[in-house]
Amino acid sequence: MARLDVRCKVDLPVHLITDSINNKGVTEIGARFTSLSLNGGFIDYKPQYIKNKIIGLRYDLPGHGEFEILGEVLRLEDKGVAARFYNLNRDAKLKLWDYIKENISDDLSCPYCGKKNIQKMRRCDACGWGLNFYSQDYIVEHEKESFIQRLVSKSEAFTIEDIYKVLKFVDVDILKIGKNLDINEEFVGSSQGILNVFSMIRKVAPTDIPVLITGESGTGKELTAMAIHERSQRRNKPFVPINCAAIPENLLEAELFGHEKGSFTGAYKNKAGKFEYADGGSIFLDEIGELSLNLQSKLLRFLEDKIIEKIGANGGKKVDVRLIAATNSDLKSAITKGAFRKDLFYRLDVFNIPLPPVRDRGEDKIILARYFLNKFSKEMGLSKTFSPETIDAVKSYNWPGNVREIINKIRRAIVMSKETAVTPHDLDLEMPNMQIEEVTSLKEVRCTIEKQKLIEAMKHCNNNISKVARVLCISRPSVYSLRRKYNI
Ligand SMILES: Nc1ncnc2c1ncn2[C@@H]1O[C@H](COP(=O)(O)OP(=O)(O)OP(=O)(O)O)[C@@H](O)[C@H]1O
Ligand SMILES: [Mg+2]
Repeated sequence: MARLDVRCKVDLPVHLITDSINNKGVTEIGARFTSLSLNGGFIDYKPQYIKNKIIGLRYDLPGHGEFEILGEVLRLEDKGVAARFYNLNRDAKLKLWDYIKENISDDLSCPYCGKKNIQKMRRCDACGWGLNFYSQDYIVEHEKESFIQRLVSKSEAFTIEDIYKVLKFVDVDILKIGKNLDINEEFVGSSQGILNVFSMIRKVAPTDIPVLITGESGTGKELTAMAIHERSQRRNKPFVPINCAAIPENLLEAELFGHEKGSFTGAYKNKAGKFEYADGGSIFLDEIGELSLNLQSKLLRFLEDKIIEKIGANGGKKVDVRLIAATNSDLKSAITKGAFRKDLFYRLDVFNIPLPPVRDRGEDKIILARYFLNKFSKEMGLSKTFSPETIDAVKSYNWPGNVREIINKIRRAIVMSKETAVTPHDLDLEMPNMQIEEVTSLKEVRCTIEKQKLIEAMKHCNNNISKVARVLCISRPSVYSLRRKYNI
C-alpha cells in the first residue's frame, strides 16, 4: 500500500530531550535523523535509555532555523528509534516540507509507492498521488486529498460512540449545524435521513427561498425552521412562529396581517400583525394546511410580491419576511379535496425538507434517548444510565410520537427510576410491540407476551438456547417448541 506521506533519506542532527535517569531534570541526547516525513522520522540513536515514550526533539533545519517539537517513540530498533511527531504547527510543517522536498531522491521512483520511471507524470499512475512537488500549494492539496485515507487508517480504533462524536463534531463545531439555535437547543442525530436534513438546511438557509417542512408530529419541524433562521443573514432579526391550527380563523387573519382601528367590532386600536413583527426576519407558519382559503390567497399575494394587507387598510404594505411553513398533513390530498390552493402549494413546495419519522432513523433512537437522559438527569443533579434491556426496548419500540415522545418518556423515566440504571418499565416500554387495541382475547394476550418475552430473552442471551431456558425458567425443548410456534 502506498504511504500517505513522502519520506526521504536525510542526515540531520537532532537533540532528544527526555527525563534524566535519576529523575533530576532532563537529559539531552545528540543523535541524527536518518529519514524524515511530515509525520515523524527515524533517529539513529541506539537506545540504552529512554524513560518516557514522549520526547522532545530539537533540530536545526538548514535555512529555516531551529525547531523544538514533541514526539512519541513508536518503535525501538537495533539501528535506532522510530518517532512520530505530535501535531506540528503550520509553520513548522511547511518548513519541514521545504526541507523534505529538497531531499526527495532523484532516483525517479514515486516516493509514496515506489513505482519506477515517474519522471513525466504529474500524478503517479500506480498509487494516484500527485507528484508535482514544486507546486506552491502541493502539500496543502495533498493533505486535503489524503485526509479521508488518514481518517480511515485511524478509524479502525474507533468505537461506535467515537464515530458519533466525530460526526457530531463535524456537524456542530465545523459546519455549525445545530449551533446557536436557541437556548441550548441542539439537533441530535447521525442517521442518513437526518444528515440529509442537515445538508438541506445548510443549502437553503443563506437564500430567501420559502421552505416547506413536512413530517409527522414531534419530528422536529419547528427546530428545523429555527435552524434555517439561525443560519441565515436574518439571524439577528425576529423569528416569529405561529401555529395556524391553534388560532380560530377570524382571529388568525388579524394575528397574521394586523388590523386598522375600527375595522371590525372590537378593533379598538391599530394592530400590527406577525408579518410586520417579523420584518427583516423569518415567519414560521406551523400547520399551514389549516389555513382557510381566504388566508391562503392573502399568503399567496405575500409570496408573489411581498405585500401584506392589513384588515381595514387601504392598500397593502411591503414587508421583507422569509416564509418557512410546516405541515404534518398531506397537502396534495387537500388540493384534490379543494381545501388547499394548488398555486400556493407550488410556491411553497419549491424547497421541501421532509423529516423522517424516528422509527426510520436507526441508531438515532438510542442517540436521542441517551442525549435526553444525560441532559435531563444533569438538570436534576442525578446520574442515570440505561440498562442493556432498556437499550433493546428503545431500539425495538416504534416511537409514534417521535422526538417529543422520547423527551416525555425520558423525563418520566428519570423521575420513576429507583436505581441508577433506567429500566424498560421506567420508560413504560415493557412490551414494545404489543398493540393492545388489536388484542381481543386472554389467549392472545398470553401469546403476545410469550412471544415478546421470548424475543427479548433471545436477544439478551445472544440466541444461546440454554441461557434463554435458564432466564425464562423453562426447559430447552420448550424454548425450541416456542420458537417453532412463533416462527422465531
Ligand atoms: N433531532 C433532534 N434533536 C434534539 N431535539 C429534537 C430533535 N428533533 C426534535 N427535537 C425536540 O423535540 C421537540 C419536538 O420538536 P418540534 O416541536 O420541532 O417538532 P414538530 O415537528 O414541530 O412537532 P409538531 O408537529 O407536534 O408541532 C422539541 O423540544 C425539539 O427541540
Ligand atoms: Mg411544531
